[in-house]
Amino acid sequence: MPHTPPPATGEANFPHHLVGLSGIASGDIQRILGLAGTYRRLTDQPDKKTDRLKGRTVINLFLESSTRTRTSFELAGKRLSADVINVNASASAMSKGETWLDTVRTLEALSPDALVIRHPHSGAPHLAARELGGRCAILNAGDGLHEHPTQALLDIFTIQEQKGPIAGRKVAIVGDIAHSRVARSQIHALHALEAAEIRLVAPKTLLPADAAAALGVDVYHDADAGLAGADVIIMLRMQMERMRGALVPSQREYFRLYGLDPARVARAAEDVLVMHPGPMNRGVEIASEVADGPYSVILPQVTNGLAIRMAVLDILAGGDPQ
Ligand code: NCD
Repeated sequence: MPHTPPPATGEANFPHHLVGLSGIASGDIQRILGLAGTYRRLTDQPDKKTDRLKGRTVINLFLESSTRTRTSFELAGKRLSADVINVNASASAMSKGETWLDTVRTLEALSPDALVIRHPHSGAPHLAARELGGRCAILNAGDGLHEHPTQALLDIFTIQEQKGPIAGRKVAIVGDIAHSRVARSQIHALHALEAAEIRLVAPKTLLPADAAAALGVDVYHDADAGLAGADVIIMLRMQMERMRGALVPSQREYFRLYGLDPARVARAAEDVLVMHPGPMNRGVEIASEVADGPYSVILPQVTNGLAIRMAVLDILAGGDPQ
């Protein structure tokens, strides 16, 4: 059923910053994906480096744990020949009481061209972008429950690589959508690229209030119905660290009702793609046979993430200094 996308907030502020995908133009998404295609091919070459960001500096400021996103941003900067510095919360002066904005201003005084931020609070990269007055590009690597734009871009890249244009596709996002910044960014990108159906499949307790109207999507509480005929299934982890109290009766019960097993995959399109942003909890939201099975593109998502991060760093940090 067609839905009206939610109003764009225009906060993406691309190509100066990438704090979210809300309000980003489809042409901007295609520009990033196109450049990522070039960098994806470079990844298969014996010499994987280019000097595109030689002389530029990228600082990764991660205040939450991360495997994929942090290593991918670090490697992306290095493949582009930038100087890359990683700062993590426990080893920074924030553990001595320095405020978030003082930390950001201090790092900015070192004249980086890009600051990549992961923060537990929604809006932190936005605040940094506003506070620094455009002197360095801010890239959001995941903020609270808000957005995770590069994850959604790599997901879109992976879908288009495997299946061609998003337009006309039925995409089901399954699991803990209420706490997922990944889902929020995916929904913005899928609307921008005119997916035919965006289905959110979850119990009421794991959905944002009024999801259908607020996000312009179809909501299913029954997983078998939500997966029927889907071209793409995106599974999400239960993000316990962001929950207040238990929102599902038990992990066993959750897997019975919403877990992706081979029988549920069989309800989707016959060439369905199974995706997961990671980290996965095997046996909670996804069966191992499915995660490691023929429809899964979970590891190609990681490979493509590097190309996406190279593309956004190139565009945001590779221009004339602001
Ligand atoms: C996600 C995140 O941190 O938002 N992971 C990621 O970056 N690939 C999803 C999650 O934490 O479940």
